[in-house]
Amino acid sequence: MSSDRENIQETLQKLRDLIRFHEFLYYVEDKPEISDAEYDAIMAQLKNIESNFSWAITNDSPTQRVGGKRSERFPPFTHQVPLLSLSNVFTSSELVNWQGRVEKLAGTNSVNYYCELKYDGVAVALTYQDGVLVSGATRGDGVQGEDITSNLRTIKSIPLKLVGDSFPSRFDVRGEVIFPKDKFQALNEQRIVNGEQPYANPRNTAAGSLRQLDPAVVASRPLDIFIYGVGAYQGEIPGTQEKVLEWLSTLGFKVNPNNKLANNLDQVEKYFNEWVDVHQQLNYACDGVVVKVNNIELRDIIGSLGREPRWATAYKFPSQTAVTRLIDIGVNVGRTGVLTPYAQLEPVNLTGVTIKSATLHNEDYITDNDIRIGDLVSITRAGDVIPRVVGPIVEVRTGKEVPFKMPDNCPSCDNPIVRNNNESAHRCSNASCPSMGNHLLRHFVSRAAMDIDGLGENLIAQFTKEGLVENIADFYSLTLEKLLSLERMQQKSANNILNSINRSRERPFEAVLYSLGIRHVGLETARVLASKFNSFDMLRAATLELLLEVPGVGEVIAKAILDWFAEDDNLEILNRLQLSGLTLSKLPIDPIREQLKGNKFAITGSIESMNRAELEDRIRNLGGVIAKNVTSSVDYLIQGDKPGSKLSKAEELSITVITEEQIIEMLSDSR
Ligand code: IVH
Repeated sequence: MSSDRENIQETLQKLRDLIRFHEFLYYVEDKPEISDAEYDAIMAQLKNIESNFSWAITNDSPTQRVGGKRSERFPPFTHQVPLLSLSNVFTSSELVNWQGRVEKLAGTNSVNYYCELKYDGVAVALTYQDGVLVSGATRGDGVQGEDITSNLRTIKSIPLKLVGDSFPSRFDVRGEVIFPKDKFQALNEQRIVNGEQPYANPRNTAAGSLRQLDPAVVASRPLDIFIYGVGAYQGEIPGTQEKVLEWLSTLGFKVNPNNKLANNLDQVEKYFNEWVDVHQQLNYACDGVVVKVNNIELRDIIGSLGREPRWATAYKFPSQTAVTRLIDIGVNVGRTGVLTPYAQLEPVNLTGVTIKSATLHNEDYITDNDIRIGDLVSITRAGDVIPRVVGPIVEVRTGKEVPFKMPDNCPSCDNPIVRNNNESAHRCSNASCPSMGNHLLRHFVSRAAMDIDGLGENLIAQFTKEGLVENIADFYSLTLEKLLSLERMQQKSANNILNSINRSRERPFEAVLYSLGIRHVGLETARVLASKFNSFDMLRAATLELLLEVPGVGEVIAKAILDWFAEDDNLEILNRLQLSGLTLSKLPIDPIREQLKGNKFAITGSIESMNRAELEDRIRNLGGVIAKNVTSSVDYLIQGDKPGSKLSKAEELSITVITEEQIIEMLSDSR
């Protein structure tokens, strides 16, 4: 019994030390190592244990006190009016209680509320003198922050001079600096390609960016801001939060368009429910809804308690972070042969979903974060769909945890695993590892790729086993008869499958490009490539230099693309996909301008006025067909400079030979 008590005290002690350590990193050093959500999860665990064993609560527990100091790197800045923090509510009944207190203090029960999203970024205060930005500072401890004016000036959505003249001679606005999620992802993709460690999350990256001593570096980061209120001011401002924000946006400040007035608590709930499931789709991180009393005069009557106003609260979205036990580490072989370790977890609830596994990225991630089998780990799915293990809670280790080692042989085909010197990934050395083949097929049909419904993992395994599908082009050779030859295949599902294969022919060029599973070409890279090169032919013709000009494409991606097009098997597959009617170029074919329809063109020699791939593209876009070789079915041979053997072949077959000028004329006839 007494050893139980000792165990509890010891666990509590470790959790408290851990929280203190992170509070130090966050408040004093301004170098947080964990996200708010992770911090909240550890704090929730501590609170939970303390609530079960109240005898173990001590005065020095972080649950009993809040505090912090500013750090010293930038000049200190004193806020004339302190930046307050917010109380939290987590449930509807806590919200009702909060409202009860508000109404009681306000002496009325007809209070309007203003609902805003709670952005998970960095709070800042901006001071304007006669409409010109004169200073900008971090929140710090709320009273004293740091002067980071020159860094904030680099954020393009912060006006350096205000619009019009309807503002006090001197006033402060407050807002949240954020790092947009898409830009964050692009930055990380680039870092991975460069062999650098990816950043943990957009908020820490925004904070880290603002703390750069060189404003030029800050300027290179795509930071953004939402303004949510006014601090100190002289003179008059509008009387409600709604009107204040409307007014601020007329001055040129960026105000979030999703803010909304709520006339009662039901409408607040409605706003919360509208965002609770979809806030992840926004391009910035937010972790709840801020509910504010709309009437500013009423706020003064309601007042504050310490650093927290009683007239506002944060209604938090359910935590995106949880703490659970890492039971074991498994290894998957991906479509490119890369081994990805994943965590097998003791099931835990995360935002209403039971999580049993989470990604661990690669071996370096596991060793760098010192994640061991048996550890208590925190997991999150902030920003991304797949949950991720953030790290172990080292302080509560028992000593029985086991470090992880990558297997020497592929879990799928037993061939040796290799790791290139400068890469973080381990790969299966067997180019025809069955796992890879299946992965590519599964990747090809997945929603973001060709979006072919009804082809699950098992069915694909059946296809490959029966030899119906060996590569991605084979999907388009499937027939009703072939499908019905499979065991337990019903006519109805076979028809559905064929229909969805048919529909996939309409998928846009970038989706086809992504679906090929070219190494390092994810969705985002496929999109930029598709917008730069309008067709596969243009992409295939691209040189290393040209590829390197594409934003986000570095040596590694460029090389992977060149390697892919250098494989004859891949070109054969592309050819078959084209014959199957897939969209292999960006420009839609305009049916009323298809005057080249029914004509087949071959090209010989070099074309002066445009890239050869572009010429091919333009012919196709007018309904023409490009032939690689001259055969009797070719209608025209386009003769460029220094023609090759195709010319004599064309003459032999009496095929019409036209010049570059002539084809360009045929093309422009359509305009
Ligand atoms: S109002 C009322 N509005 O939350 C005083 N704050 O915990 C609080 N935050 O430091 C400021 N979104 O950085 C307000 N729409 C919003 C907010 C917001 C995020 C942050 C802010 C503040 C922290 C308070």
